[in-house]
Amino acid sequence: MQISGQEIVRKLRESLFSSILKQEVGFFDKTRTGELINRLSADTTIVGRCLTDNLSDGLRSLAQAGAGVGMMLYVSPSLAAFVLMVVPPIACLAVIFGKFLRSISRRTQDALAEATQVSILLMCNKKNRYGSNSFYSELMKGLGAGTRLWELMDRKPEFPLTEGLVLKPEQLKGELEFCNVCFAYPTRKDSPIFQDLNLSVPAGSVMAVVGSSGSGKSTLVSLLLRLYDPDSGVVTVDGRDIRDLNPYWLRSHIGTVSQEPVLFSCSVAENIAYGAADPSRVTVEDIYRAAQIANAHDFIQEFPKGYDTVVGEKGVLLSGGQKQRVAIARAMLKNPKILLLDEATSALDAENEFLVQEALERLMQGRTVLIIAHRLSTIQSADAVAVLDQHRVMEIGSHAKLLANDQGLFRKLMEKQAFLQAKQKQALF
Ligand SMILES: Nc1ncnc2c1ncn2[C@@H]1O[C@H](COP(=O)(O)OP(=O)(O)OP(=O)(O)O)[C@@H](O)[C@H]1O
Ligand SMILES: [Mg+2]
Repeated sequence: MQISGQEIVRKLRESLFSSILKQEVGFFDKTRTGELINRLSADTTIVGRCLTDNLSDGLRSLAQAGAGVGMMLYVSPSLAAFVLMVVPPIACLAVIFGKFLRSISRRTQDALAEATQVSILLMCNKKNRYGSNSFYSELMKGLGAGTRLWELMDRKPEFPLTEGLVLKPEQLKGELEFCNVCFAYPTRKDSPIFQDLNLSVPAGSVMAVVGSSGSGKSTLVSLLLRLYDPDSGVVTVDGRDIRDLNPYWLRSHIGTVSQEPVLFSCSVAENIAYGAADPSRVTVEDIYRAAQIANAHDFIQEFPKGYDTVVGEKGVLLSGGQKQRVAIARAMLKNPKILLLDEATSALDAENEFLVQEALERLMQGRTVLIIAHRLSTIQSADAVAVLDQHRVMEIGSHAKLLANDQGLFRKLMEKQAFLQAKQKQALF
C-alpha cells in the first residue's frame, strides 16, 4: 500500500510537471510560483494518500460495520431491522447536509458532524465512528485536491511549443518585421503597450531601439521570442508570421542577452555551453574562445575553481557585469542568425563596456541585430535607430539624420542624456 501510494504520487508529479513546463509565459504571469509548488507537493500527496491509506481505512470501516450489523441481527433480528430502517436515511441525509453546510459555516458543520456521529453511533462502535468520519472528510479533501490537479494537468497551453513550420537553416535570412502590432500583457489587458506599431529590420542590419523606461523596448524582444502573441497585427521573420513557425526552432535561431541574464545554478562552463544547439558536443576550447571574445575569460580564471565555479541560484554569486559577460559568451557560442541585445552592457563599467562593445560588434557581423541601447556609442554604430514613444515607433532613421532634427524626440532624448552627463561631471570636479 505504501509503495503503490508513493508510486502514484511520483507519477502524478511527473505528469503535472511536464504539463506545467508546456504552458505559455502568460500563464506564469498569472499564476504564483508558490501555488504551483503547492500543487506539486501537497496536493499530489493528498490524492496519493486518499487513494491508498484512506481506501484501506474505508474498507476496514465497511467490514467493521458489516460485522456489527451481523451481530445485531444475531442478538435481536427485529430490533436490528428497526434500527437498520431508521439509520441509513438519517445517515444519508446527514452526509448530504454535511457537504452542503461545509461551505456555509464551520459551526453548523461541527454541529452536524455531531449529528452524523450520533446516528452512526447507533450502529457501530466508537473507533469505527471516527474511522468513517475521517474517511469521509479525507475523501472530500482528496477530491478537492484531485480536481485542482486535473484542472492544471488538462490545461492546454495557448500555443503548443513543438508544433509548426521548421525551415532549413540556410533558408533563414533573418529579416524581422512588426506589422500594425497591438499588444497588452495578459495580466493588464487595459493598459496597451503597443498600438499599431510598425518596425522593419532588414536581414543582416543592426537596428538600435531607444525610448524612455517603460516604453516597451523589452516587450519587443518578448514578442520576437514569441513569449507572448500580439493581440492584433503580425510579427514576421523573412515574411512568415512567427505564429506559423515552430517556437522551439525559432528560439534556437535567436540569441538573446537580456536585461537580467538568466543563469542556472551550475558551473560557469555549463552556463556558457547551454547556448549551443547540442551542449554535449561543445568542447572546452569552444567555451574558452567564446569567453575570451566576451571578455569573460580573465575574471573566470581568477575564481578559485575557474570554469567549474558554481554561479549560485540565478547567478547570485556573480556581479551584474559578470553575468552579462557570461550571457554574451553564451550568445557567441550559439552563433545565431538573429541577435537580440537588451541593454547587454548596462551593468559594465566604461572600460569593460568598451571591450565588450568591441566583442559585440564582432558578434553582430552578418546577423540581424535588434539592440536596445541607451549609450551613444552603441547607437552610433547601428545602421538605423528607432525611437519608441506613445505605444509606437515615432521616429526612425540613421543616427545622424535623427540628430539633425531639432524638434525630434531622439534629439531631445540625447540632449537630456548629455545634459545629465555634464551635470555628473560638474558634480565630480
Ligand atoms: N510580464 C508583464 N506583465 C504585465 N506588464 C508588464 C510585464 N512586463 C512589463 N510590463 C509593463 O509593460 C511596460 C513596458 O515594459 P518593458 O519592460 O517593455 O519596458 P522597457 O522599455 O524595456 O523599459 P526599461 O528601459 O526600463 O527596460 C511597463 O509599463 C511594464 O510595467
Ligand atoms: Mg527593458
